[in-house]
Amino acid sequence: MRIFSGIRPSGKIHIGNYLGAIKQWIELQNKNEAIFAVVDYHAITTPFTKKELENDTLDAIFDYLAAGVDPNKSALILQSQIPEHLELSWIFSSITPLSWFGRVPTYKEKVESNPEYVSLGLLSYPALMAADILLYGTTHIPVGEDQIPHIELTNDIARRFNNIFGKTFKRIKPLLAQGARIMSLQNPLKKMSKTGDSGIALSDEPDIIRDKIKKAVTDSGTEIKYGYDKPAISNLLTIYSEFSGKKIAEIEKEYAGKGYGEFKKDLAEIIVNGLKDFREKRKKFADNKDYILQILKSGKEKAQKQAQQTLKNVKEKIGIII
Ligand code: AMP
Ligand code: TRP
Repeated sequence: MRIFSGIRPSGKIHIGNYLGAIKQWIELQNKNEAIFAVVDYHAITTPFTKKELENDTLDAIFDYLAAGVDPNKSALILQSQIPEHLELSWIFSSITPLSWFGRVPTYKEKVESNPEYVSLGLLSYPALMAADILLYGTTHIPVGEDQIPHIELTNDIARRFNNIFGKTFKRIKPLLAQGARIMSLQNPLKKMSKTGDSGIALSDEPDIIRDKIKKAVTDSGTEIKYGYDKPAISNLLTIYSEFSGKKIAEIEKEYAGKGYGEFKKDLAEIIVNGLKDFREKRKKFADNKDYILQILKSGKEKAQKQAQQTLKNVKEKIGIII
């Protein structure tokens, strides 16, 4: 498999990002060619400030490394440092019917949450994502469930390109983890996101984690049971299961007859422990910007050649003189 995935530096990376995406990356990098990107040009399609973008970009790279992305096994890249992403994205956005972009659920959600910040960049976001993926001959994309529509659109764009200009791109497939959809601790009907207080950041200190779990909403009733009518407890059970390695049924049995309080207390400690290694590694990397720049340079060296080849091939196929 050839693996590509990315996260937007638009806030702190949280346990949803970890369980949905990064956890898979760490395993996949051992046996496959893998590229992991911090997609900063995607991050500017939603509101941001200079300071936030700079900090979130560096933090994301620290988080990748501390979580176990190994720059000796994979290529860690910063999207903006490889301009071929933008060039291919322009070509894709020019050959794709406008209506295909307007249908994307994440676009509609963002229009709703930030109606005063709806830009051309936000609309064409999936063309840039398709470029990220297709530049590298990617076959599999480890992501959370919310990215499925983007993956489908990538395949639609690839098929359209192939139909018009001749077979160029392969079909890509998403790889979904068990924690592919972790919900907000404050509203279990919405996914955990980087904005607000809905999630636990990988870099949260233990007391913050304890406090957030304590304040997490629960369902009516007292039973620790997984089910459609118990979205809050189901979500906490999923998180418990992912961090402890225990099956959900096993956890339900363990807490039969016990209350939410005890369950939450234990869950907080399991997360705090699960992130202990991460916290220690992160402290070592933090503030070492030179090290980060070095890693990005070597990631770019590994990845860019292939991006250039793909782009050259695409340009030739569509009649751009090179
Ligand atoms: P984003 O935070 O939108 O940049 O997402 C980065 C990666 O994390 C993508 O693969 C997402 O699908 C995944 N992801 C984001 N939020 C969640 C969530 N609440 N549960 C599981 N995966 C998620
Ligand atoms: N759209 C993805 C998200 O919000 C981020 C992303 C950009 C991505 N390009 C990608 C993910 C390529 C996988 C592959 O999470």
